[in-house]
Amino acid sequence: MTVELTKDALRLDTVWPQADYERYQREIEAKRSWGYYQRIIIEDAAGKRLETPGPHQCLGVIRALDRHGFPAGMAGKTVLDIGCNAGFYSTVAKLRGASSVVGLDSQEHYIAQALLIKQILGTDIDFRIADGHTLEGNVGPFDIVINTGIIYHLQNPMDFLAKMAKITREFMYLETEALTNPALTEYAWFIEHAYGEDVSNWWIYGPRCVERMTRAAGFARCEFQGYVWTPPPGDKTKEGYDRQGRAAFACWK
Ligand SMILES: C[S@@+](CC[C@H](N)C(=O)[O-])C[C@H]1O[C@@H](n2cnc3c(N)ncnc32)[C@H](O)[C@@H]1O
Repeated sequence: MTVELTKDALRLDTVWPQADYERYQREIEAKRSWGYYQRIIIEDAAGKRLETPGPHQCLGVIRALDRHGFPAGMAGKTVLDIGCNAGFYSTVAKLRGASSVVGLDSQEHYIAQALLIKQILGTDIDFRIADGHTLEGNVGPFDIVINTGIIYHLQNPMDFLAKMAKITREFMYLETEALTNPALTEYAWFIEHAYGEDVSNWWIYGPRCVERMTRAAGFARCEFQGYVWTPPPGDKTKEGYDRQGRAAFACWK
């Protein structure tokens, strides 16, 4: 079975037997109450579709990340997808030629989702439960680390980035919530309570601040790749904060 990343779906070259299709639908649905983050759309050769009901539109986001330095080719590279969630970016790494991919997430239910997606796609990816703060010497090193959508969820981002630097051999791709005001580019904002109705959002960083943090953590060079997304002018979160943007960074060891 081969899998192709298209703009509409992860497309398979085989057709699911009806019983398998219905079982996959049931298994996706059974995991709904835990919450999905990644919306992953899979289509078989007959056009039958499976879809995880998350808000993060992976197919649109990967196209945006590709315009902002996400690795286009990973042939022969060992890859870690840290905070892999349901495994979409791990899957992209595999489809782009990675020799091995490890997907780690601290949440058991997300790894269960990733294992289901792996089963449906038949991909060879090692998904495991692990907290990025605890990685050092016990995993890796990896040629490439994919680090998207995590560092604003961490209370101790420098500790986490230092661990990532230790296990990265060549390159880390970093994406995060980021301050959009150019006057604040060197600063970071500690939130304490909810931002965007999510109490796990702790820090939002200016782009120059992220570059400095990654260098201090052990990367030789880090370059802001631009804003992947910015809010419409005047957009506010439910809490009344100015909504910020999303930014990408290329970090070299
Ligand atoms: C906003 S989601 C981003 C998921 C994915 N990387 C993406 O870009 O679509 C954040 C993910 O990071 C995971 N996570 C948060 N803190 C973590 C940590 N310390 N170690 C490993 N995973 C973590 C969460 O469980 C969640 O799956």
